[in-house]
Amino acid sequence: MKIGNIELKNNLILAPMAGVTDVGFRSLAINYGADYAVCEMVSAKALKYKNKKTEDLLITANNESIKVAQIFGSDPKIMAQIVKSKYLSKFDIIDINMGCPAPKIVKNGEGSALMRNVDLAFNIISECVKATTKPVTVKFRAGWNDNINAVEFAKMCEKAGASAITIHARTREQFYSGFADLNLIKQVKNAVKIPVIGNGDVVDINSYKKMLATGVDAVMVGRGALGRPEIFSELLNKNVLDNKLNDIKQHINILRQYYPEVFVVKHMRKHILWYLKGYRNSTQLKTEIVKEKNLDNVVLMLENFFENLNKKEEV
Ligand SMILES: Cc1cc2nc3c(=O)[nH]c(=O)nc-3n(C[C@H](O)[C@H](O)[C@H](O)COP(=O)(O)O)c2cc1C
Repeated sequence: MKIGNIELKNNLILAPMAGVTDVGFRSLAINYGADYAVCEMVSAKALKYKNKKTEDLLITANNESIKVAQIFGSDPKIMAQIVKSKYLSKFDIIDINMGCPAPKIVKNGEGSALMRNVDLAFNIISECVKATTKPVTVKFRAGWNDNINAVEFAKMCEKAGASAITIHARTREQFYSGFADLNLIKQVKNAVKIPVIGNGDVVDINSYKKMLATGVDAVMVGRGALGRPEIFSELLNKNVLDNKLNDIKQHINILRQYYPEVFVVKHMRKHILWYLKGYRNSTQLKTEIVKEKNLDNVVLMLENFFENLNKKEEV
């Protein structure tokens, strides 16, 4: 499928996840077969005020041949200004977040709050589209609480000039509980001509097939990739070698190139807990790693753990 002029090979995408889809993790997902991996959402306003931490979220890896940034905000002028700013100049696709359910976002009329302000959402999208020749895409939910308006919203996005849409078929009220409504995704797909990316609850081949059965053009995976970037190879039916230790080390090494060690050691803790999920006898290691302040020690602890694991397997 194509987003504007950009061709995808595998029709698989790593979802944007704030605090999670850092440059290292995105790089791994792409190595395993994701066409692209969306950067964590960034506030257009924060970029306007040159917030350094926000700028740092837009660091990209060498293997990101399709670079995608996601912005959020509620002011069409600021959003358009950021779309054409130097901050987004290296990106190939600009995604607009109209799905975030977090109270601190929706109280400002941003994220999923825009699903109950369709006129403003239209203005934001069309101003952003006018500001660039790059494809602009929109990610949204089933609707705001009881008002399930994804179909109408999808048509509005198309009319405003969006090149593709992603639907995470949960309502704002659901946050991440319950299940994504695949029937609604099917209705959205049938309502528009632009490509539709289906999102929600894809964690294995079975759930992937169910998502594909809705007719979507591509599939976006979020939580199913936590600690398992190899999920993209699995969905593509490719043989996956168990490279867990290498993956974790690569993840750390990429982050180390760009961020201070104190940040990396703290930030990697949650990733390492996800990476180690399902490994028997990893409880003690996990307890020690979340306390360790030195990154080299963390790597040594992981190397020891995996070395012992291999020895046990050989016996
Ligand atoms: C920790 C976390 C952070 C997220 N941050 C974002 C974000 O920055 N932008 C966004 O559009 N969605 C965000 N999401 C939503 C995901 O992109 C995705 O829509 C959702 O998790 C459903 O897909 P899944 O069932 O495959 O996880 C986040 C989800 C999680 C769990």
